[in-house]
Amino acid sequence: MNAPIGDETVEIDFILNGKPLRRQVQVRQHLADFLRQELELTGTHLGCEHGVCGACTVLIDGATARGCLTLAVQASGRRVDTIEGMSTSGALAELQQEFIARNAAQCGFCSSGMLLTSYELTQQGGHLSRDEIREFISGNMCRCTGYHAIVDAIEAVLKRRQGQTNG
Ligand code: FES
Ligand code: FES
Repeated sequence: MNAPIGDETVEIDFILNGKPLRRQVQVRQHLADFLRQELELTGTHLGCEHGVCGACTVLIDGATARGCLTLAVQASGRRVDTIEGMSTSGALAELQQEFIARNAAQCGFCSSGMLLTSYELTQQGGHLSRDEIREFISGNMCRCTGYHAIVDAIEAVLKRRQGQTNG
């Protein structure tokens, strides 16, 4: 008997946090649920599940993406990085230190998505005004309204990198 519509599964194959992974997934399951429920990578949070809050942000091929708007099958053949892999590798260490130093992570619910979005921004380098930083992170909601401290943290990392670049 065929599976009910939406319950079909398909095998996917991708690089997750630097390691190859092959899994059978439901075609209708979104990536954030797959990460959380099947792989117990619960650092990717779910807020709105409608693409609005940014809590589910992950990196796909190095660019931020909404885990709640991406089907797990769409990750097949791609490279996916979550907060777990990025933290373990140390890629986020500088941002994490600044977030901690400035109390930019309050309840922490938005922090994984904020950090990954901030990472994308800081990878681009260059000088950005506070307004430009705000614009860049505007797709990530912080229910603790920690925005000022988050902008402070990102600005500190950018400035330090500028200083290093300028010698
Ligand atoms: S849970 Fe994906 S954007 Fe809110
Ligand atoms: S630190 Fe609480 S939601 Fe942002």
